This record gives sequence, structure tokens and C-alpha cells, in this order.
Amino acid sequence: DMTSEPFDYAAAIRTIPDYPAKGVMFRDITTLLGNPRAFRRTIDELVQPWAGAKIDKVAGIEARGFIIGGAVAHQLSAGFVPIRKKGKLPFETIGMDYALEYGQDRIEIHVDAVEKGERVILVDDLIATGGTAEAAIKLLHETGVKVEAACFIVDLPALGGADKLRALGVAVRTLVA
Ligand code: PRP
Ligand code: ADE
Repeated sequence: DMTSEPFDYAAAIRTIPDYPAKGVMFRDITTLLGNPRAFRRTIDELVQPWAGAKIDKVAGIEARGFIIGGAVAHQLSAGFVPIRKKGKLPFETIGMDYALEYGQDRIEIHVDAVEKGERVILVDDLIATGGTAEAAIKLLHETGVKVEAACFIVDLPALGGADKLRALGVAVRTLVA
């Protein structure tokens, strides 16, 4: 299994100081996405615990969670559920406001995106404060499903997001801190 070989995710990710605001070290995954080996490896490693697990839906958070989540859903033969920033989804939605490392926003999900009892995992590129993922998990809970796990490429552990999700009873999987 190729995912048993070590892989240097940190070397595949670029850091931009003071973007989008002073004091933020922005972890830019576009360099990882553009690297064929790194992108393949990332998706293989994210799906690994779920091979054969009969996951029904992968929920991905706009915008970077769409790229990762779409590939993860395809590899698991699962459906994909977009969790979008406010005003972007055309059908009836439920929404949740949340605070960010550098601002504040609102995410929404279609009311019929998941069915009660479906097995769902949440995917995004990065967890910082965990505010975005926490809001996404609450939205999914409101639609009546249990979130099996939340999966990210990057964890920023100093910001406490992964611990926040674990406190909600959600398993968290990240590939690099
Ligand atoms: C980033 C990232 C996560 C979120 C993590 O997205 O892709 O979704 O921040 O931060 P948190 O754990 O503190 O909530 P961003 O809000 O910058 O939106 P974008 O993907 O549309 O650029
Ligand atoms: N989202 C929140 N904090 C971030 C960071 N430091 N780098 C990239 N995306 C982020």
C-alpha cells in the first residue's frame, strides 16, 4: 500500500505570511494540488480509513473543501454534498453563522442534501479555529445525520480546532500539523 511510505506534506504546501491579514501564516495548498504525486497521495491517505465503509455522502466546505471532497467522494463511490457560503445554493437551505481566524461568515446546506441515517464524512483542506467545521457539523446534525468523521489535510493545532470537534464527539483525521 503506497500510503505506508512517509510523505512530506509540509514540503508540498506553501506558506504566505500576512495573507489575507497581518499576522496570519496562510497555508497555501495550491502547490500540493498542482503536484500530481502529492494530490494523489493526499486523496489516497484521506480515504484509507473509509475503504469498504459504505460512506453514503462526503460533505465538502466551499471553496477548497470542494476540490478535496469531490476527489474523496469519487474514490469512495459516495455522493458529494456542497456546504456553501451564504446565498449560493438555489434550493431551500438551512444556514449557520460562524467566526473565522480572520473574519466571520455564514454557510448553508440544502435541506434535502442528506437523508436521515446516511453515513456522512466531512472534508475540508484545513482546520484552524474549527469554527467553519463546527458550523458544518451542526448543519449536518440538523438535517438528521451523524457525522462519522471530519478529515483535513492541514491542522493548525495552536488554534484548537481539532480538539473542539473531538469535544463534539466527532473523530478528526488530519495529515499534517
Ligand atoms: C478556510 C479553510 C477552512 C477554514 C478554516 O476557508 O479552507 O474552510 O478557513 O478556518 P477555521 O477552522 O478557523 O474555521 P476560508 O473561510 O478562508 O474560505 P475559502 O475556502 O472560500 O477561501
Ligand atoms: N483558514 C484559516 N486559517 C488559515 C490559514 N492560516 N491558512 C490557510 N487557510 C486558513
